[in-house]
Amino acid sequence: MLRTTKGVLACLEEAQGGFIPAQDLCEKTRISARQLADELTVLRRLGHAIEADPILGYRLARPQVDFDVQQLRQRLASCCIGREIIALPSTTSTNDVAFQLSQNGRSEGVVVFAETQSAGRGRLGRAWVSPNGRGLWFSVLLRPRMPTARLTVAAAVALTRVVAGQARIKWPNDIVVNDRKLAGILTEARGEIVVLGIGLNVYADAPWPAQAISLEELLGERPDRTELAARVLMELDRCYSQAAQDFDGLLEEWATRCVTLGKQIELQIGGRRLVGLAYALDENGALIVRRDNGQTERVYGADVTLVHG
Ligand code: ATP
Ligand code: BTN
Repeated sequence: MLRTTKGVLACLEEAQGGFIPAQDLCEKTRISARQLADELTVLRRLGHAIEADPILGYRLARPQVDFDVQQLRQRLASCCIGREIIALPSTTSTNDVAFQLSQNGRSEGVVVFAETQSAGRGRLGRAWVSPNGRGLWFSVLLRPRMPTARLTVAAAVALTRVVAGQARIKWPNDIVVNDRKLAGILTEARGEIVVLGIGLNVYADAPWPAQAISLEELLGERPDRTELAARVLMELDRCYSQAAQDFDGLLEEWATRCVTLGKQIELQIGGRRLVGLAYALDENGALIVRRDNGQTERVYGADVTLVHG
C-alpha cells in the first residue's frame, strides 16, 4: 500500500466511525482533492467500506461482524493451537506480530488474525494480497520439537481436510484448485520459534491476483469466516499433534492430495537449476527429487522456486 493510501486509511481509522470532511483529509495527508478521490477508490477496491456524505465527508463504515472472535475463542478453548487469539483490524504482517509476541515470552499456540495486512508476504519475500475482511490472514506461534518443514505439511493437510473437494496441495506451500491458488502457507523459523502463517481467500468480491481463487467462488456460496476459522484451527491442532506422533500417516494423506509428486519438475535453488522427478517427501518434510541419472537430492521448500511442475 502506498504511503498516501495508508495515510488516508489511518485518518479514517482515527475518526473511529465518525465523518471527516474531505478538506481535512486532504490537509492531514497533504494531497489534492483529486488524489484523495483516487486513494478512496484504491481503499474501496481493497475492501474498505467507506461511506461518503456530500456535507459531512467520509467515514469508515462499521466493520462487518462476520468474524466473531469471542465465539472462536470459545470453540477453541480445549485446543493447543488457539489457546489465545488476538484479532487486529490491520497490521503489516501477522507473521511479524507473532514473532514480536514470541519475544515477550508468549507461549505456543497463540494465533494472530488481521482483517487486512499492508505488507503480507509469501515465500522469498513475494507480496501476499490481503484485502480487508475478505479472507483469513493469520499466524500461529509455535515452539515445535520437530523439523520446520513438517509444519508446512501439517498445515497443507489441515487446509485440504477443511476445504475438501477439488483442493490439492502444490508443493511446497500452495493449496490450489485447477492451478488457481486458494491458500498459501508461510513457515518461518527464528531459533526455536516457528511461525506458521496461513492466507486463505474467502470472499469473491475482492481484487484478487489473476491466478487466485476464493472459497466463495469455489463453493458457490458465501462461507462464514468464524466457522471456517474454527474448523481450520481445530484441524491444524489435530495435524500438529499427528506431525509429532504419526508423521508417516500424515505424509500418506499429504501424498494423496499432492499434485506435484510423480511429476517431472524444474527447480531453481539459488543460482542452480535442478530437474528431476518429484519422488517423495522424507521424514523431515524435504522433497526427494530423482534426477535422470538416478541420483537423488533432498530440497526444502523454503529455499526454492518451482520453475515448472
Ligand atoms: P511457487 O510455485 O514457487 O511456490 P508461487 O507463485 O506460488 O510460486 P509463492 O511464494 O508460493 O509463489 O506465493 C506468492 C505468490 O502468490 C505471489 O507471487 C502472488 O502471485 C500470489 N498471491 C499473492 N496474493 C495472493 C492471494 N491472496 N491469493 C492467491 N495468490 C496470491
Ligand atoms: C505463499 O503462498 O507464499 C504464502 C502466503 C502466506 C500468506 C499468509 S497471510 C498470513 C501470514 N502473514 C503473512 O505475511 N503471510 C502469511
